[in-house]
Amino acid sequence: MSSATDTEEVLITRAAKDIVDSHKTIALTGAGISVESGIPDFRSAGGLWSKYDPEEYAHISAFRSNPTKVWQMIKEMMDLVLGAEPNPAHVALAELEQMGLLSSIITQNVDGLHQRGGAKKVIEFHGSNQWLVCLQCGYRQEAVSLSFEEIPPLCPECDSVLKPDVVFFGEPIPWEAQTGSFEEARTCGLVLVIGTSAVVYPAAGIPTSAKQSGAKIIEINTEPTPLTGYISDYLIQGTAGAILPKIVEEVKKHIS
Ligand code: APR
Repeated sequence: MSSATDTEEVLITRAAKDIVDSHKTIALTGAGISVESGIPDFRSAGGLWSKYDPEEYAHISAFRSNPTKVWQMIKEMMDLVLGAEPNPAHVALAELEQMGLLSSIITQNVDGLHQRGGAKKVIEFHGSNQWLVCLQCGYRQEAVSLSFEEIPPLCPECDSVLKPDVVFFGEPIPWEAQTGSFEEARTCGLVLVIGTSAVVYPAAGIPTSAKQSGAKIIEINTEPTPLTGYISDYLIQGTAGAILPKIVEEVKKHIS
């Protein structure tokens, strides 16, 4: 655990050493890593859930009972993502991967910014808004191919409402994403937990699973979370876009 007086610089140096010394490092990311790309997170002040009640907009039963209403929020989120670029935090993680120091990124985000930032092994735990699926017949198409003149978009095969291929509350996590993520957690030596409030399960259980297998847990967040002081070895408090590039620069000193 870190002492309260550890400065950011001390913790960044410590994190760089932990990464270099770890036999396998993974990252678990949440909406906070995309805030500096202009995409609001969900639970911070002014976040998406302060504007849209998740029970009314993010639950699969709400989608089924009022798809037009839910698609208004989805369209707003898709427009935000369309205008977003990867920020230095996304790029820093991709650099760590290219250096062979990051095995995978497990992301709760559906914005595709890790891949656009250069990361290759990305597990999309809550799916991706790059695709639309039909819950009736299984038809799939890329979201970008849609002009969204009319919402909700309808399936060209069976005329049912199309849904972004993201996990709504009340839906299961894609089996491959779940098994792959927990396998990464069980076999890693270090988890970088970045920009997540760690309150939504099963994703929030990944750091605990890794800890139980002996891994070290480092949080990078502007605020403490329920993991802080219990599961996390230490929190580097600040923005991911500022902290991660500093950690990568420090890592380069260790390996040069
Ligand atoms: N840098 C680092 N952390 C940040 C930044 C930043 N620039 N900005 C915000 N944060 C932190 C916040 O302090 C908060 O702890 O990111 C976290 C964002 O938390 P949430 O908004 O709850 O997002 P997330 O943890 O990804 O939510 C999990 O909940 O609603 C569902 O499906 C949705 O995947 C999402 C899941």
